Amino acid sequence: MNDSTLRSDSAMRSVEAGACGKVILYGEHSVVYGRPAIAVPVSGLRVHATLAPLARGAGLHIVATDLGEAFAMNDAGTDDPLATIARLTLAHCNRTEPDAELTIHSDLPIAAGLGSGAAVSVAIVRALARFLECPLSREATSALAYEVEKIHHGAPSGIDNTVIAYEQPVYFVRGQSPQTFAIGAPFDLVIANSGIAGMTRDAVAGVRARWRAGLARYEAWFDRMGRIAEEARVAIEAGEHAALGALMDENHALLQKIGVSLPELDTLVHSAREAGALGAKLTGSGMGGNVIALATPQTAAGVAGALEAAGAAQVWQTQAGD
Ligand code: MEV
Repeated sequence: MNDSTLRSDSAMRSVEAGACGKVILYGEHSVVYGRPAIAVPVSGLRVHATLAPLARGAGLHIVATDLGEAFAMNDAGTDDPLATIARLTLAHCNRTEPDAELTIHSDLPIAAGLGSGAAVSVAIVRALARFLECPLSREATSALAYEVEKIHHGAPSGIDNTVIAYEQPVYFVRGQSPQTFAIGAPFDLVIANSGIAGMTRDAVAGVRARWRAGLARYEAWFDRMGRIAEEARVAIEAGEHAALGALMDENHALLQKIGVSLPELDTLVHSAREAGALGAKLTGSGMGGNVIALATPQTAAGVAGALEAAGAAQVWQTQAGD
């Protein structure tokens, strides 16, 4: 009996695992060009993965409930992100395919800037690692999810898989070890989905084309976005919420300049500010997806209502640092 047989016999029980969503507070897009960015987990919006044993010889079956898809891992191509993360995890753990059904369900909207792709990967890595009794560090989990981010996004910075695998606020510079940091005083965020799907790959490619054509201007804007992220980290650690709001507004104006906002996103941002938000901006790759607004316990419900009235498809209230 070899090692993998022993392991799969001992692991014949169902397991569950999950992964959070994320929002980028400051520095999306400029992070692709080496500037720092700040992201926080959104613990209330999660991807859930379960693994249940199947009869011997059945192989690994993947059920993506939200997509209405069910298939055998071995029938999926190398461009399938779910099968790919499963294969990568098995290879990393040096295990053969288990006889099991992997079911994935997500609270997170797809193509909305909340990290649903990375969260699905991290949830699958965690579920498989638990099923196979193969403990993985958060660094290893993040690195595996990064491989699939490349399928989704082409040339991702790695911030999404990092904040989701670490499930902590991160100050992130591409190619460097992420720095986790403490939030000085919790702050209220309202997240509003525009209902417009924004494809990260296309948004990042569009920025790259415009950056090539206007290098000096774009480099100056990215520099400022990077400094905003640095200033924001200081303000977050100090619990200075008013400063954070102004930095969000400025970051949104720069995201407009680099061409990743939409009138619908600007309308949401504007309505949040009108309703008393300390600041607001799009989050993630833009061209659709979500906006975030910095609120207070007193203003959060009003800001959420204003975003709904302004046409948001979904609105969530959450707290960072609670
Ligand atoms: C996507 O969530 C964030 C971007 O900065 C792309 C990336 O960092 O890879 C737009």
